[in-house]
Amino acid sequence: MCGIVAYIGPKDATAFLLEGLARLEYRGYDSAGVAVTGKSGGLKVCKAKGRVADLAAAVPARFKGTTGIGHTRWATHGEPSDANAHPHTDNAGNIAVVHNGIIENAEELRARLTADGAVFHSETDTEVLAHLVAAHTGEDTELEEAVRAALKHVVGTYGIAVVDARRPDRIVVARNGSPIVLGLGEKEMFAASDVSALVRYTRQVVHLEDGELAVVRADGFRTFTEDARTVTRQPSTVDWEVGAFDTGGYEHYLLKEIHEQPAAVERTLSGRLDERFATAHLGGLNLDARELREIRRVKILGCGSAYYAGEMGAQLIEELARIPAHSEPASEFRYRNPVIEADTLYVAVSQSGETYDTLAAVQEIKRKGGRVLGVVNTVGSAIARECDGGIYLHAGPEISVASTKAFTSTVIAFALLALHFGRIHDLSPADGRRIVGALKALPGHIRQILEQQDAIAKLAAEYADNAGMMFIGRVRGYPVAREGAQKLKEISYVHAEAYPASELKHGPLALISPELPTVALVPDDELLDKNLTTLGEIKARSGRVLAIAHREPDAKLADHCIVVPKSEPELDPLLLNIPLQLLAYHAAVALGRDVDKPRNLAKSVTVE
Ligand code: AGP
Repeated sequence: MCGIVAYIGPKDATAFLLEGLARLEYRGYDSAGVAVTGKSGGLKVCKAKGRVADLAAAVPARFKGTTGIGHTRWATHGEPSDANAHPHTDNAGNIAVVHNGIIENAEELRARLTADGAVFHSETDTEVLAHLVAAHTGEDTELEEAVRAALKHVVGTYGIAVVDARRPDRIVVARNGSPIVLGLGEKEMFAASDVSALVRYTRQVVHLEDGELAVVRADGFRTFTEDARTVTRQPSTVDWEVGAFDTGGYEHYLLKEIHEQPAAVERTLSGRLDERFATAHLGGLNLDARELREIRRVKILGCGSAYYAGEMGAQLIEELARIPAHSEPASEFRYRNPVIEADTLYVAVSQSGETYDTLAAVQEIKRKGGRVLGVVNTVGSAIARECDGGIYLHAGPEISVASTKAFTSTVIAFALLALHFGRIHDLSPADGRRIVGALKALPGHIRQILEQQDAIAKLAAEYADNAGMMFIGRVRGYPVAREGAQKLKEISYVHAEAYPASELKHGPLALISPELPTVALVPDDELLDKNLTTLGEIKARSGRVLAIAHREPDAKLADHCIVVPKSEPELDPLLLNIPLQLLAYHAAVALGRDVDKPRNLAKSVTVE
């Protein structure tokens, strides 16, 4: 979604701002802008609809300053246009503001400010902030005081950065529901909505909490609360490599991330397998064995692919630990006044750790006294900080909008949790060893699937031609079908529908025809015969079948087959999903889609 960058120091701010905005492109946006100021005074603003490259081309040669803010906008109020792009300024052209989030009382504030003489140039909610800060600025008012006073009138969510041409020695940032991270440099400071914009310059970061502001100067920063109480925030170190933010020679981030999965899985597993006791070590849970034994139910919450990974997680927990487990979209859970039980363990899943619906679900559970663990990729993110404990994925940064390596690492994290739970309950040491062995073998198995890329690319080009596709799976295979359909529609825009294989004859069989091919998950497990019967039903209606299986079914039952290596039945779903990622990727490429930045989507949905 929208992105913020800011710089203050001895160097030219514009270069950093443009480079930082380019780093945030993956989040999705439709326009961009920068504002700079400096000792020589005056505020320069440049904005452009379109890509950061369009903005860079529009920035005049003499556009220089040592203090600056920049923004990539994803339209919420008003169409994508130069005028609606951020930064927005006050009437006098001194104050510039960039903003992520939504100001809910913008209309009311706009009316009040207009009555007081403010002239608006955009349809955005953000512009009210510029006029509001100006209304609270006086000769002797510090910028941070004006921002703090202005925000008292604001209802909604925001991450903001503000500059004032009359005070070029500082930038003021504030956070309420939308992330802001400070980056600490040598005699220079940075700020951004996402660490990926900062890692090229510094690894020392400070995450602001909701309700906090910071005044940032070239030589340091001060954080304080909405009621002006100073708070001390210790920096943390980002352990992501700079190279992790490049395509590394691959055509797209998505392809790179699909191929990074063996290494990502190794990192998720690293130091967490206990071969002696055939269990998993998960130090971050902050729950001892006795507390874990008291848990009677597990409820998993996430959005989109995180929710589907949670469905696979629920299956693993039920199978290995025999504890009832269920995954639900966090975006639904938060609106239905959920019953929070003392003996239920809640698990929030989020790659970014910033998804607003998931964060709101966590806050609702905590407000009602529930215990929440986070399964999160981004260290120090809002959800990670809000949870009582959890498991970090260590999958490395995921740039492409479609989640692949984080999805796989999330399922691995759940396998570890299920193993740990299981060994506390009734999972035998022999079964524990069986799972430990299978987990260790997974990176090799994933590599074997990735080696089939060329064959899968050919199939993808063939199947991409259809207006739609059906994905079916039974029990363990159903979440795989859902994630496979999600991946295909997300990046190729081909309509895809996922159904439990068992439900086909209860309705969707009516859709089956040569024009609607089916991707069928056909693992070699106790349900193989049932799945083969379903394939027969599809073929009897002249449906085309692409099977993802452990061995090729009879040619009468499937037109094509992608064979994947066999793991243990509980872990098979994870491997069955990998060819579906490649299928979606190559279908999108064949159709000429913007693979890493699909239309209408953002990497993390930080608004309601
Ligand atoms: C995945 O391919 C999607 N882009 C989307 O469903 C995503 O998984 C969802 O928005 C949740 O994101 P999160 O993991 O960062 O919370």
